[in-house]
Amino acid sequence: MSKIVITGGNRLEGDVLISGAKNAVLPIMAATILNAGLNIIHHCPRLSDVEGSLNILEALGCTVKREDDTVIVDSTTISKHNVPDHLMREMRSSVIFLGSIIARCKQAVISTPGGCEIGPRPIDLHTNALKKMGVHIEESHGFIHCSADRLKGAEIHLHSPSVGATENIMLTAVYAEGTTVIYNAAKEPEVMDLQLYLQEMGVRIRGAGTSTIVIEGGCPLHEVEHTVIADRIEAFTYLAAAALTRGSVRVQNVVPEHLYSAIAIMRECGLNIKIGKTDVSVTRHGILRPIKKIYTLPYPGFPTDMQAPMTAMLSIARGTSVVSETIFKNRFRYTDELTRMGADIHVEGQAAVIRGVHKLTGAPVYSPDLRGGAALVIAALAAEGETEVNDISHIERGYEEIVEKFAQLGATIQKVETKDENKQQT
Ligand code: UD1
Repeated sequence: MSKIVITGGNRLEGDVLISGAKNAVLPIMAATILNAGLNIIHHCPRLSDVEGSLNILEALGCTVKREDDTVIVDSTTISKHNVPDHLMREMRSSVIFLGSIIARCKQAVISTPGGCEIGPRPIDLHTNALKKMGVHIEESHGFIHCSADRLKGAEIHLHSPSVGATENIMLTAVYAEGTTVIYNAAKEPEVMDLQLYLQEMGVRIRGAGTSTIVIEGGCPLHEVEHTVIADRIEAFTYLAAAALTRGSVRVQNVVPEHLYSAIAIMRECGLNIKIGKTDVSVTRHGILRPIKKIYTLPYPGFPTDMQAPMTAMLSIARGTSVVSETIFKNRFRYTDELTRMGADIHVEGQAAVIRGVHKLTGAPVYSPDLRGGAALVIAALAAEGETEVNDISHIERGYEEIVEKFAQLGATIQKVETKDENKQQT
């Protein structure tokens, strides 16, 4: 167990190099199974979720090696088609392995993902699509058993543009006979990165980034080398931290376009934003203006994963803002902890009403989930006095070297090992 201890009040200033995107690298890890060969993946962040994926690949029989930020996966031999329950539980997004295991092995067994910290996480869109592609699916005793004599291409209309379902269909379609078309596909940049990875492997696939993706099954596949895109959510977290601390921070090695929806809001708040070719900087001079209404939406709308850091930022705006969460049911748990730090936030149904306060104050808080935890860290950087952020394992699922990166920007921050008895009673 560890906690992050922060003494707030320092103005953050400088450059920060953004890591590879967690949400891009996870489906790419799943895709490594497909080519039955070598996969070389650069810009691979050191995150517990990535380590979880590597453990799954090893459990399936792949050989896995890490050299700095490069991961090499050799999937020539696969000896198993089941993801062990404990590995499935470690990482909710392991459902993404379903598509590639069924494609390669024609059978797959995973445990039911169930819900998670941010609400129910159904997989009906994934399973319905796979059924259309010829997969027989049975759920019993907490496991999902899948088998297919042959996979066939299909026209799949998603009733909502699920990122995970889009990716699972893309992976399965690589081995299907004929063409698969996904309508109302997710348009997220991470889906585009997966498409690029598959193209580099020899798959004929097009359309990612639009709502229609077309995949030709049965293409000959070969060795692949790929560099993962930068993490837009991590980048925004550092920009929001700069805004909270009256700072000036440049995030480097990013695709600015991936941040446009957040940039538009930050400009409305009165922040000075400069956009370079592969960097974005934010400087705060005066007060932060509130935002009347923000809705989380699928890309290119404002992402649900940026909702918590944005709310932390608006907690010190001069006036009232409203943030509506439209993607996940339970994504405001961190607001209780922000309130302990002096924020004035009321959650009404799926909306948070944030009345800006003059200052936040340090307090012991608990990270309820990944992005909520990051919101607490950036609030703490601006808060008067000391904040202890506990339960940081959530944060370590998605932020590489968060303590080192904030320290480099001038924060007084450290990671401290704690004993189990300090854990919050629930
Ligand atoms: C991915 C991201 C996550 C992000 C989310 C939305 C990864 C590893 N995770 O999660 O960080 O917050 O996209 O941008 O990439 N739904 C169904 N049935 C399904 C699947 C989804 O009803 O079969 C619903 C979900 O409950 C949710 C919405 O669709 O309300 C969006 O979920 P989805 O896009 O699938 O999110 P994930 O892929 O799980």
